[in-house]
Amino acid sequence: MSDTQRRLDDILGVILARRKAKGKLRKLSNTPTNFVDFSSNGYLSLSTNSEIQKTLLSRLQAEVAAPKDSNGSHNSRRSLLGSGGSRLLDGNSPLAESLEDKIASFHGAEAALLFTSAYDANTGLLGSVPQPGDVIVYDELIHASVHDGMRMSRATKRIPFAHSSISEAQRGRTTDSKESGVVSRSKNQGLGHVLRELAKDERVTSCKANVFICVEGLYSMDGDTVLLKEIVETVDRYLPSGNGYIIVDEAHSIGVFGKDGRGLVCQLGLEDRIWARVLGFGKAIGCAGDVVYDFLISGRSEPLRQYLETLIYYTRHQLHALYTRLQPSRKTLYVEETTLKSPIIPILTAAPRSLAEHCQRFGFMVRPIVSPTVPAGSERVRICLHFANTKEQVDELCGIIEVWVKNQMAEVVPQKDTKSLKATEIANKLAKRDKHKPRL
Ligand SMILES: Cc1ncc(COP(=O)(O)O)c(C=O)c1O
Repeated sequence: MSDTQRRLDDILGVILARRKAKGKLRKLSNTPTNFVDFSSNGYLSLSTNSEIQKTLLSRLQAEVAAPKDSNGSHNSRRSLLGSGGSRLLDGNSPLAESLEDKIASFHGAEAALLFTSAYDANTGLLGSVPQPGDVIVYDELIHASVHDGMRMSRATKRIPFAHSSISEAQRGRTTDSKESGVVSRSKNQGLGHVLRELAKDERVTSCKANVFICVEGLYSMDGDTVLLKEIVETVDRYLPSGNGYIIVDEAHSIGVFGKDGRGLVCQLGLEDRIWARVLGFGKAIGCAGDVVYDFLISGRSEPLRQYLETLIYYTRHQLHALYTRLQPSRKTLYVEETTLKSPIIPILTAAPRSLAEHCQRFGFMVRPIVSPTVPAGSERVRICLHFANTKEQVDELCGIIEVWVKNQMAEVVPQKDTKSLKATEIANKLAKRDKHKPRL
């Protein structure tokens, strides 16, 4: 290794050591297959759906069995497995174009453009559309890929607004309701204020500058949905000439909301009011391509989505009941009471790593979410529900969380009955049950 390479290794080593010291070093891991998944974003469990797998297989088999061309070569076969090049050169295909048409028509959009991931879609969209002089206004909790896209963009200004807040009153409400004052009130203004200020700029009022407003359909850390109707009304109000363009990242809301999983924009009937949507294959849709879209379009995902909704109600109810029964301090555990139909349920706690490790010890995969992914003071364990989860698994998870909460409470105020609920007892009970099997 040359001296120059050693220097680079040293620099990277220092950076990694610093991250480790701060507890911010990330590394890849594999979830054991016998764990119950309460963590991934595959909300409809489509990546393990046997019907989709069989359809894909039969398409490949049909292609393999297709006759050779007149020269005895396989050159005329369609490249089902990959593009073989840039779409601008030789990588385009009728398959890719027909999938884009399908996606556009399913979601009620004028057109669709395929990217390799939602990350690429966000960076591609924001890196190319806003022009010098334009402004991007974004929800302060927007995903990192939108931040990367904004960094690549030529827009002159980027302005955050307080999460899901239109007015000053909402700015207070969203934070207060979440965590009893542990989280400080956002330092950012609501969207109404930001747009009102922008509307004073002659370049904006004369439409020389465009304003792009970036939000998510379903926020992946809080599991709350965007107030999209109010956002549309606010943009209309302050940018009446039509140069306010709303972009909704539906990475988490596709599959979960709207008929057959068309997404939140379709559920609200706002297809004509949203300038662009970023949809993702990487979460509820479970896999990329034509086969899964045919599955959605045929309505076969709808029963899965409806089952998921009942599981969401059930889990929220069970977790909130646990919270009200045990009445832990809000630092120990807090579950908000809400009727949200979102499969993402945050359990707020000041000890997210301890709670997540405890659940993992019993074979339940949940993950701690800590600062800076979420604001300091709002650390949590995030529960994500899937079609493959069962009510029995939810009950077991709640039982395990209950043990942890009681143990935490016992550390503060020793209580008699927590002795009978030592973790080993639960472990013995769980050891006796069948291995977890996805209900597919
Ligand atoms: C809101 C949002 N947008 C975009 C992405 C990027 O998605 P992908 O990993 O499919 O590229 C994510 C991923 O976590 C996300 O949560």
